[in-house]
Amino acid sequence: MALEDRSKVMDKLTSLGKRKGFIFQSSEIYGGLGSTWDYGPLGVELKRSVTSSWWTEIVSKREDVIGMDAAILMNPEVWRASGHVGSFQDPLVECSQCNHRFRHDHVEGNACPRCGGELSDPRMFNLMFKTFIGPVEDEGSVAYLRPETAQGIFVNFRNAQEASRQKIPFGIAQIGKAFRNEITVGNFIFRSREFEQMELEWFCHTDEADQWLEYWLQARFDWYVSLGVKKERLRLRPHTDDELAHYAKACQDIEYEFPFGWSELEGIAHRGTYDLDQHIEHSGKDIRYLDPHTHEKYVPVVIESSGGVDRTVLTLLADAYDEDEIGGEKRMLLRFAPHIAPIKAAVFPLVKREGMPELARRIVDELRGRAWNSIYDEGGSIGRRYRRMDEVGTPFCITVDGESTADQTVTVRDRDTMTQDRIAIDSLVSYLAERLDPRG
Ligand code: GAP
Repeated sequence: MALEDRSKVMDKLTSLGKRKGFIFQSSEIYGGLGSTWDYGPLGVELKRSVTSSWWTEIVSKREDVIGMDAAILMNPEVWRASGHVGSFQDPLVECSQCNHRFRHDHVEGNACPRCGGELSDPRMFNLMFKTFIGPVEDEGSVAYLRPETAQGIFVNFRNAQEASRQKIPFGIAQIGKAFRNEITVGNFIFRSREFEQMELEWFCHTDEADQWLEYWLQARFDWYVSLGVKKERLRLRPHTDDELAHYAKACQDIEYEFPFGWSELEGIAHRGTYDLDQHIEHSGKDIRYLDPHTHEKYVPVVIESSGGVDRTVLTLLADAYDEDEIGGEKRMLLRFAPHIAPIKAAVFPLVKREGMPELARRIVDELRGRAWNSIYDEGGSIGRRYRRMDEVGTPFCITVDGESTADQTVTVRDRDTMTQDRIAIDSLVSYLAERLDPRG
C-alpha cells in the first residue's frame, strides 16, 4: 500500500522531525521563536548531504567556479547600492482588532483571516533585519543582516577574480545564512526568517547570457534529480513581468510539488549588469573586468542560481516520505537516496551473546572509518529495529547472526525492496560503496 493522502504529510513530517531528531523548534523550552528551526542530529546530516553535494557539483568538480565565504554583516552602503534598502519590501496590512499583520497579497478582501477585524490599507515594510554596530544605537551605526548571500560575491568580484586569475565566463559560489523579516511564514521550514542559501553568480559576456541561462536552468534542475527527487514533482516556471525582482531581467523558478502545492525551490535569474553597475556607482571603484586577450574593459552579465538549503531539505523529506504495509503492519518510511541518507547503515547483533555484539561493533567501526555514518543497535526484536531505521531512511540494515562468527558473513537488508543478501564481511565495504555512490 503506497501513501494515498499527501495532504497530511507536512504534519507527519513535523512530528517525525522532532521525534527522530531531524528538526526542532528553536528555543522550544521557552515556547519557541516564530518560524525559526534547529537541525537535530539527523537533520544536520541531511543538510550536510545537501550542501556538500552542491559544493561538489558546483565548485569542486569545476575549474571555472571558485568558492568564497563572506561575512553576514556588510557595510550598509552595500544594501543601498543593491536596492534592498529602497525596494526589498512587501505590502503589509494590519488588523485593527488583533493587530496581527499579513502580507497584502496573501489575504483576500479586507477582513482579518484570524479574527475577522478590519484590515488597514497596505503600507510597505522592509524585510531586512536591522541592527546596530557598537554601543550607540543611532542611524550612523545601523547595519543589516544580509537578506541574500549574493552581494558578498558581487562586492568581492574583482578581489576573487584577480586572486584566482579566472577568465570570463566563470562563477563564484557561496553557501551561507540569510535573514528576512518575513511577514507570512510557515509550512515548517519552507519559509522562515533565518535560512541558508546556496548561490552561484555566473559572470559572462552579454552575448552569451541567454545560452548560459539555459545551461544553468538545465544543470540545476538535473541536480535536484541527482538527489533522488522525483522528476515528475519538479518543474520550471518562468516569472511573469510583475513577479520579477527589482534586479532581474528574466527569471525562472525550479518548483517542487510540495504536499501544500507547487512552490519555489530555487530561482535562476538573469541579473544583467545591475549589481556590478550599482556597486561601481556607489563605491566609486572600478571593478570592471579586463579581458586579457582583447583588452576590453567591461561589466559582465550575471546569471544567478539561488537555491535554499532548508527548502531542499524539506523537499527531500517530503519526497522520501512513504507508508506501506508489511504483514498487516503499517510501516512509515523515508525513501532517501542512499547517498543522501543521514544514516547509511545500521548493524544489529541478532542476540547479545556468542560474540555477535563484538563483531557488530567491529563492523560499525569499519564503516565509520569510511565516513559512512553508521549505528549499532541491539535493542528489541529485529523487526522493531528495522522499523526504527526505516523511519529515518537508513538504506541498509546489517544483521550479525549465529553463522556470522563462524563463516564471516552477514545479512544485508534493503530498506526499499526488503530483500536480504548474504554477504561476506570482507566484501561488505565494496557492496555498500557501490550502492552509496551518488551515480549508482
Ligand atoms: N539572490 C537571489 C535571491 O535571494 P530569492 O528568490 O529571494 O532570490 C532564493 O531567494 C532562494 O532562497 C529561494 O528560492 C528559496 O529557496 C530561498 N529562500 C528565500 N526566502 C526564504 C525564506 N524566507 N525561508 C527559506 N528559504 C528562503
